[in-house]
Amino acid sequence: MPISIALGKPLIGAVLARLSARGQTRRVVDMGPGAGTYADLFRGLTPDATWCAVEVWGPYVEKYGLQDKYDQVIVADVRYLDFIKLGPSDVMLFGDMLEHMSANEARDVLARAAMKSRFMALSIPIGQWPQDEIEGNPFEVHVEDDLSHADIQDIVPDLCGGQAMVNDQGQGLGVYFAATNPADRDTLAAAVVEAEDLIASATSDGLNAVAVDFLDPDAKAAFRDRIAASVMA
Ligand SMILES: C[S@@+](CC[C@H](N)C(=O)[O-])C[C@H]1O[C@@H](n2cnc3c(N)ncnc32)[C@H](O)[C@@H]1O
Repeated sequence: MPISIALGKPLIGAVLARLSARGQTRRVVDMGPGAGTYADLFRGLTPDATWCAVEVWGPYVEKYGLQDKYDQVIVADVRYLDFIKLGPSDVMLFGDMLEHMSANEARDVLARAAMKSRFMALSIPIGQWPQDEIEGNPFEVHVEDDLSHADIQDIVPDLCGGQAMVNDQGQGLGVYFAATNPADRDTLAAAVVEAEDLIASATSDGLNAVAVDFLDPDAKAAFRDRIAASVMA
């Protein structure tokens, strides 16, 4: 399924909300949106933003109604994307999509992305997560299916915050934030600290859910509302 686990999403939402409160989220680009879960969960946290999606698998656009969820939808492989044509953005989201290419390709994509986006938020599986094609989409295969936290630190440039959440077997997920410009790094690092505090002090147990059925509109809406209630406080 073109969705990912719930773990780490409240932190990404909280960082977006903190950046939005500073007027720093006018354009958000969601790389590999799949079913559009990030737009469904987070658009309400960034009221001033326009959202653009870059999805390689054309059939998802109609199947998941991406034109209704995003202001702009581009069907393209991010590895071959012309970032100059894409234009500047404040935030680029890479939600569980960089493992769908080789580590070297991911490095190259991030280096080019960093020239056009001030902030990046990434979610990447840690440990063994093999995955095959889904719904006939060959881009759903996990090309890198056993990344460690150290591997990811080596792939993502200019990290300025994040968390690796892994179980006893070393399997889990990392959420990372990066920016290149020194002033942007300070802004993002401050937003991440504030976001971590918001999540730590949130009272809703549901925020710590590992799995939410994001293809169930009611479950997704309930999770969205829980995040909003916690991070807009
Ligand atoms: C596991 S899904 C994640 C979906 C969504 N970001 C989420 O976390 O719910 C991975 C998505 O990335 C897309 N994808 C994979 N490789 C891509 C590439 N090179 N360029 C653009 N999209 C890609 C897939 O088609 C799929 O929609």
